Amino acid sequence: MARGRQSRLHEQGGTNCAGKEASGSEIRLEPIQASNKKAVLALELAEDQQDLLADNASSLKEAAGDDDARPRAVVAGDRVVGFLMYDASVNDGEALIYRFMIDCRNQGRGYGRAALSALLKEIGALGHVRDVLVCYMSENERARRLYQSAGFVDERADADGEMIARLRFVRQTRRP
Ligand SMILES: CC(C)(COP(=O)(O)OP(=O)(O)OC[C@H]1O[C@@H](n2cnc3c(N)ncnc32)[C@H](O)[C@@H]1OP(=O)(O)O)[C@@H](O)C(=O)NCCC(=O)NCCS
Repeated sequence: MARGRQSRLHEQGGTNCAGKEASGSEIRLEPIQASNKKAVLALELAEDQQDLLADNASSLKEAAGDDDARPRAVVAGDRVVGFLMYDASVNDGEALIYRFMIDCRNQGRGYGRAALSALLKEIGALGHVRDVLVCYMSENERARRLYQSAGFVDERADADGEMIARLRFVRQTRRP
């Protein structure tokens, strides 16, 4: 599943990941639109994270040419703190999360976990998804811990060194 990874050369000099900002706001997911696109493009990863996934500009370009791509801004209060993208094509009952990032100045504050939870709610509300797959680079221990704690189970590593993990949605049967 090579679409999850596109290496990025770090061309812009150092990132500015030392900044600390207040956290604690509610997290919500927004479709990409004029009001949040610039902020999504300004999100940064730490230098040692930049090969873990494609940069957001490439992802948005890719999404513009793919009707199945669902790109989302991760918003805390009035601040865009992250970006993710998934595909939930109706036919196979599987959704695939293939981009997921929190700006490096905002990592480690629970935003990733909250965004994943909001995303799983959004995917569940679509109604047709049985399984959610996520792909991440096998060496990405932080991502592994996040996904495992949400119930994803590692399934296989693909040819590009990406791990595919699966979460099965358990459907609740309502009793009379
Ligand atoms: C992975 C990522 C999305 C997590 O977002 P985050 O906001 O930093 O994560 P949270 O603060 O919500 O923490 C969620 C869990 O991630 C793991 N985690 C977070 N920071 C960690 C760290 N420094 N070391 C190890 N695990 C860590 C933990 O399991 C944590 O749960 P816990 O606090 O209960 O132990 C974010 O770090 C990121 O964007 N990383 C770079 C891009 C990437 O790896 N994307 C995912 C694969 S494509």
